[in-house]
Amino acid sequence: MEHYVIHGGNPLSGEVEIAGAKNAALGILAASIMADEAVTIENVPDVSDIRVLVQAIKSIGADVQHPDRHTYIINGAGIQDLPVDNEYVRRIRGSYYMIGALLGKYKRAQVALPGGCNIGLRPIDQHIKGFRALGADVSLESRGLVRAEAEELTGAHIYMDVVSVGATINIVMAASLAKGTTIIENAAKEPHVVDLANFLNSMGARIKGAGTDVIRIKGVDHLHGTEYAIIPDQIEAGTYMFAAAATKGDVTITNVIPKHLESLSAKLIEIGCEIEESDDALRVVASKRLGHTNVKTLPYPGFPTDMQPQIAVLLGLANGTSIVTESIFENRFKYVDELIKMGANITVESNTAIVTGVEQYHGAVIDAPDLRAGAALVTAALAAKGLSQVFNIHFIERGYEDFPEKLRSLGGEIVKVDTREEEENAKRTFLRRAQ
Ligand code: UD1
Repeated sequence: MEHYVIHGGNPLSGEVEIAGAKNAALGILAASIMADEAVTIENVPDVSDIRVLVQAIKSIGADVQHPDRHTYIINGAGIQDLPVDNEYVRRIRGSYYMIGALLGKYKRAQVALPGGCNIGLRPIDQHIKGFRALGADVSLESRGLVRAEAEELTGAHIYMDVVSVGATINIVMAASLAKGTTIIENAAKEPHVVDLANFLNSMGARIKGAGTDVIRIKGVDHLHGTEYAIIPDQIEAGTYMFAAAATKGDVTITNVIPKHLESLSAKLIEIGCEIEESDDALRVVASKRLGHTNVKTLPYPGFPTDMQPQIAVLLGLANGTSIVTESIFENRFKYVDELIKMGANITVESNTAIVTGVEQYHGAVIDAPDLRAGAALVTAALAAKGLSQVFNIHFIERGYEDFPEKLRSLGGEIVKVDTREEEENAKRTFLRRAQ
């Protein structure tokens, strides 16, 4: 079975280039079908979530070209088969962006979302509230099928009850092709909300205020073609920053927007790392054992929930006891049991993890429970003494381009194996090198 074999203990050092932002790309690729002309999107990360969404976009009749690894040219003029319900769209949550895009353009959408229980855990009530405010009839049917339909979409004043990235992006898309002005209050301010708004504006939309909590959208009649490059991935960059810190390394992370990483840099500085910033790069140096701190996940510009497992891994090696509070998703400590197998001292009480630092983790056989926690556990294995095996790596491949290759270029000993023979070879090579 595919998994990573990791031999820990090497401080990561060198330079690593960050790919385009997966979460921005999901929204932007979906929004590209709103134009009736070719739209060129560059700096798209080559990760499995994106490949799945592209298949879903193809499956409804859009013309998709892929001239190089990171560029897509999408033309939505030929879209005929509106209901989006196939094996692709049901595989990723990001496919809910097809609802806003199709509703905006065709005034009707029918999109199947990943299974019922996932929707239960991650509700879409704010998306639905927004579509309804714009005048759509929306129903949530069995097997996660969402239907939305409107004679006409009309601008509205919408107050979001919770700060939701997905709902903000979906409403911005639909409102871009509505009649009149929409105002979204308590909007999400994440960098990928801003990127999506910039992208739509480059197609002729009239969106102001993205990046603040009030977004104003003046509806336009149609959107035209464009060429657009996606921003660098904030969470991929953060993962390498924290991996550098966990392994007491010295890593320069290039193709980043340091402003997007401020909440992460601030925590790293607070616990004793050195950070050097330039226009589009950031160097993280960790030469000594790190100190403890408390952290609470919050919407941007707060500390991102997607980095919560990574900071817990780091604080698990720090001097003293830290408290990590998860305030966005209720069930995001599933990795803790795996980390305990590596020697961590962590107890979880409801949405809080109490993390008492240990001197070192030791290698173990572990399962990645989800995308970000999977990456965090790889970081722990790179910092650990001895050999680890990380299974369920399809989660990690959803959002990290060339993860083992990039880590290897920094001196990390990690290899993806499939067969028993490959596994044994990798272990032998790592152990021989260690002698
Ligand atoms: C996006 C990101 C995900 C990140 C999350 C928070 C994508 C594809 N995924 O997810 O990686 O972890 O932002 O930064 O961009 N909520 C509701 N009702 C709704 C919508 C959300 O109650 O209709 C709640 C959620 O349960 C959660 C909070 O709002 O507690 C934030 O969720 P949201 O920002 O919508 O996350 P996603 O957009 O799904």
